Amino acid sequence: MTTRRSLLLGLGGALALAEAVCPARAAPPAVLDWRGPHQAGIATPPTPFAIFAAFDLLAQDRADLREALRLLSDEIATQTVPGPIPQGDDPLMPPPDNGLLGEGRAGQRLSVTVSLGASVFDDRFGLAARRPRELTAMERFPNDAIDPDLAHGDLMLQISADTREAVLHALRAIVRRTGRVLVPRWQIEGFLPARPAAPAEATPRNMLGFKDGTSNIDRDDAAAMDRLVWVPPGSEPAWTAGGSYQVVRLIRNLVERWDRTQLAAQEAIMGRHRLSGAPLGKTEEHDTPDMALLPDKAHIRLANPRQPESAANLILRRGYNYARGLDRAGRMDMGLIFVSYQASLDAGFRAVQARLNGEPLEEYVKPFGGGYFFALPGLGSQDHLGQTLLD
Ligand code: HEM
Repeated sequence: MTTRRSLLLGLGGALALAEAVCPARAAPPAVLDWRGPHQAGIATPPTPFAIFAAFDLLAQDRADLREALRLLSDEIATQTVPGPIPQGDDPLMPPPDNGLLGEGRAGQRLSVTVSLGASVFDDRFGLAARRPRELTAMERFPNDAIDPDLAHGDLMLQISADTREAVLHALRAIVRRTGRVLVPRWQIEGFLPARPAAPAEATPRNMLGFKDGTSNIDRDDAAAMDRLVWVPPGSEPAWTAGGSYQVVRLIRNLVERWDRTQLAAQEAIMGRHRLSGAPLGKTEEHDTPDMALLPDKAHIRLANPRQPESAANLILRRGYNYARGLDRAGRMDMGLIFVSYQASLDAGFRAVQARLNGEPLEEYVKPFGGGYFFALPGLGSQDHLGQTLLD
């Protein structure tokens, strides 16, 4: 039986509540730790819902920027730990919480990952010398039609959780708390299958109907993560160690056109069989692709040629699907929120995208937003996220 008192008992209470809410999900714990060397939301398993929310800083000087990061850290600490939600008792004041979750936060694997855009390192805060070396505003690629209202920003929050309510609850709490220093710039909501319909469907499918995420860096392989995802000490301004370059690309899928394309053509474009996810000519999803059986311009062949020299270009993909109804011409507006994390933007995303430029898939996709950001190192022994950047 879950009581308000058990909620106050911290993690024990959190797990009791998680069990009461969803017995099947009682383990593993629904609380993601962001206090280690890395923020949560990168090496942690993707959850079914996420929102990507870009902000601009109203901050005028470094003290204001520190205030923004302090408030954010404080609010993340509050939001990510399950427990009772204050209801307030002053009828003259607005209630302290937006009420979306009722009286308790149930964990729901909420994570809030904070990243900074290149614009933070302009002349406003005297941080130019501390810019992560490869961080710039996202450049234009040949197939792009970027809407400036859906691109870039001083600060990006990736908020993800098991339910849409938990994501929106956290976003609203953060916006309310940080309103003096952060102005919302653009947002997009993403989703993945809540749980696999069958074991063969463990890899989520994207809006083109293909499994997406089959070949990826193993999040649990600490050595690979250290080599390819986390910025190592020494190569960059000292504060960046343990952080990661974050790429967000909003890529619309032209699904009406795709749905009128023969299966064999779809599979040649991707280089994989649609149903099984197996590389062309193979039978199992996780079989190693045989390059001799793939068209030269197949997406997976260009994205990862599997040559010794392309091993340094591996990236951690952690994308979401999105669907936003219809556009003004009555066409379905859905696609991919492509998200990748890498220790080097040049060796990672930029190198892969350079190989993909001009690929046949471009006829069916249109990038329209996103940006480059730098995911801050985890809290560690800092008072707030980003402290070592500002001190
Ligand atoms: C809407 C656009 C895109 C779609 C629909 C798409 C779809 C897919 C699919 C179905 C796979 C095969 C399954 C897998 O191994 O995960 C794949 C693999 C991959 N994609 Fe994409 N992708 C898109 C954009 C991108 C972009 C922009 C990049 C990076 C610049 C990228 C990089 C990769 C990589 C690195 C792989 C793994 C290749 C391998 O190791 O075999 N993709 N993508």
